[in-house]
Amino acid sequence: MQPNPPLSILPVDSDRLLAIAQKWGTPTYVYVESLIRQRCQKLKSLFPDLPVSWLYAVKANDNPHIIRIISGEGFGFDTVSYEEVLLCLKLGTDPKDIFYTENNMTDAEMHGAAKAGVILNVGSLGRLRSFCEAYPGSECSIRVKPDISDGHHAKVDTGNQDSKFGIRLDLIPEATRIAADFGVRIRGIHAHIGSGIQEPENILAEIEVLLKSSAGLQDLAFINFGGGIPIPYRHDEAPFDLDRFADLASGRLKAFIATTEKPVTFFFEPGRWVVGPAGILLTQVNTVKDQGRKVFLGTDTGFNHLLRPALYDAYHEVVNISEHTGKTSRTYHIAGNICESGDMLGLDRALPESSPGDYLAICDTGAYGMTMASQYNRRALPAEVLITSKGYHKTIRKRKTPEETVKDLFKETGLTAALKSETP
Ligand SMILES: Cc1ncc(COP(=O)(O)O)c(C=O)c1O
Repeated sequence: MQPNPPLSILPVDSDRLLAIAQKWGTPTYVYVESLIRQRCQKLKSLFPDLPVSWLYAVKANDNPHIIRIISGEGFGFDTVSYEEVLLCLKLGTDPKDIFYTENNMTDAEMHGAAKAGVILNVGSLGRLRSFCEAYPGSECSIRVKPDISDGHHAKVDTGNQDSKFGIRLDLIPEATRIAADFGVRIRGIHAHIGSGIQEPENILAEIEVLLKSSAGLQDLAFINFGGGIPIPYRHDEAPFDLDRFADLASGRLKAFIATTEKPVTFFFEPGRWVVGPAGILLTQVNTVKDQGRKVFLGTDTGFNHLLRPALYDAYHEVVNISEHTGKTSRTYHIAGNICESGDMLGLDRALPESSPGDYLAICDTGAYGMTMASQYNRRALPAEVLITSKGYHKTIRKRKTPEETVKDLFKETGLTAALKSETP
């Protein structure tokens, strides 16, 4: 049985969350602006004497309001699709502050990115060649595969030997040859070894690999060490020691600067660490069901809204914010409302005795929550509410009604007529 989590793990008062659930209904993602800002500021304070710049990985949470907050803290952006590039441009970001790490990019996406003037980070020799042919005399960056394996789950381990991402280290000379043939300057080198890194030593090893691998790049202007800084998902788990990491990394980065003549910027591009703990998914219990060996709390959300437990067996603390005092603990499986048996949000969780109508807060869902949500089972996406730094609550995405959801499906698919059988 998992321990009953204390209310203190919530990033804001439970009464405030309860008031939001009652006013906005559920399911609703809630984000705390002041916490996002504090976390950005913490990262920015880590390397005071080094040319380090911070990019936010938009894939973690791409609500434009959230991106705007992070931009206001002086972050640029790490994007992984042309759509994310367009989103950041639309928000007024300088293209020079947008890093686009391509992955099986199409020609159309390449031309769009080149026209926009963002930093294109190329992950294969084939794409590098087609970029160089199309844009001789220009510049780009290369993503490499450092053969360092990490991440909270095999599905997000991106740096290992068999990963689809990045150019093999032994092919870097070939990459520089291709670029030189077309007068393209490789301005940067990048790697991202995984999301939710488990062993801090692995980031240090990756830093070492990139510093060494950059030696053959004549036009080097930056080295990007990727994202992956982990957060604790269990309330009794120790957080990643950022200060220690920064101390260890600083020594190595300073030594590198001392031996290189070129001015170099170092980038990190975290997503989860910036927004994960600042988000909560609010849901309401509508069913309590004793199935003999397990008692299920049935909720109005599911893996369509929070995929991480189903996809990665990820653990998120769940707090009953309606009933948290005085009642005996019971053990529940917390189930979603999607028509699949894998739709479980938490297993064997100790909670105060819970009833239909109670609200639950699913913690640490600010990253890879809403961005991975779908409309599976034709259910609407959750609403999103921001608790602003000034303390008021602001809707940053409306939840559609079931009627609007179906109406929009008809609109998007171009079907206007009522259901009748189609003759072949
Ligand atoms: C290329 C790249 N950079 C940065 C990130 C952000 O990772 P995290 O949210 O773990 O910091 C990811 C996430 O998978 C990524 O693929």
